[in-house]
Amino acid sequence: MMNDLGTGRIICKRRKELGLTQNQLAQNLNISFQAVSKWENGTAYPDIEMLPKLASALNITIDALLGYKNIITDYDKRYDTEEYYWGLMPNHICYDILKILPPIRPYRILDIGCGEGKDAVFFAKCGYSVTAFDISEQGIEKAKKLAGYNKVDVNFFKANLLDYRPDTNYDIIFSSGAFHLIPPPERKELCESLKAHTTVTGINVLNVFVQKPFIAPAPDSTKEEEKGHPWYSGELFGYYHDWLLHTCKEEIFNCNSGNVPHKHCMDTLIAQKTEGNSNPAYSF
Ligand SMILES: C[S@@+](CC[C@H](N)C(=O)[O-])C[C@H]1O[C@@H](n2cnc3c(N)ncnc32)[C@H](O)[C@@H]1O
Repeated sequence: MMNDLGTGRIICKRRKELGLTQNQLAQNLNISFQAVSKWENGTAYPDIEMLPKLASALNITIDALLGYKNIITDYDKRYDTEEYYWGLMPNHICYDILKILPPIRPYRILDIGCGEGKDAVFFAKCGYSVTAFDISEQGIEKAKKLAGYNKVDVNFFKANLLDYRPDTNYDIIFSSGAFHLIPPPERKELCESLKAHTTVTGINVLNVFVQKPFIAPAPDSTKEEEKGHPWYSGELFGYYHDWLLHTCKEEIFNCNSGNVPHKHCMDTLIAQKTEGNSNPAYSF
């Protein structure tokens, strides 16, 4: 889908969002500020060889620079507005993280399925070092914007949680509202990988939508969610049986997403990795 903004206006809008002058952008690119001015007023276009460097300086993709929006998922459609679909208030479990591992140093957090970035930006504002990804390009673009408004750095990128596995360790691995899209055969391996990439004394903070016979599917379910695979009550907790469990909670709550009142049932886990394996009798 083409954006209604021309490349020049996209460059100008993005430059201003990043708080850069034409001169500063020009210096980053090693060109004259007159060149930037010509792009922005539409009297010239950047050379093809300049596109990767320019996109990187503006922290957007080349597609986005050229005005292409990659609408793939229903979440992309939800996020393709000025408003923040999930609002700007952090999830209440973010405050539990502050209590268990307060940011006395910049603990490293990975936020999986970060959506439009409200929780990731909250963590960064609190002083954590945050990495966050989502499959939705629109979500990631808005998340970067939100970080910019709040003047915090977050390493946001687009990735699919079904393929992505951490290549480094985190103190906190967090995911809210995204794990229901993981098919059952892939859950154990994914949880094992997250556990393996958590530092000792680090925590995993996860929630999953749980299907109950007495709760109707959400009226604003996306195609992906309708195809999604329900978790069973307690299933998530089982994958963490060998960690210290701080919270294993199941709750039913009212939701008004899409402006249609409905209910969800959710299991929430906060589990901590402890030192060593000192009980030889322990096995399942
Ligand atoms: C219910 S939203 C929650 C967003 C965010 N965690 C929040 O609480 O505001 C679920 C998110 O999971 C993302 N998602 C869905 N499938 C995904 C996948 N395979 N890989 C990564 N993210 C995915 C969606 O794009 C969406 O942003």
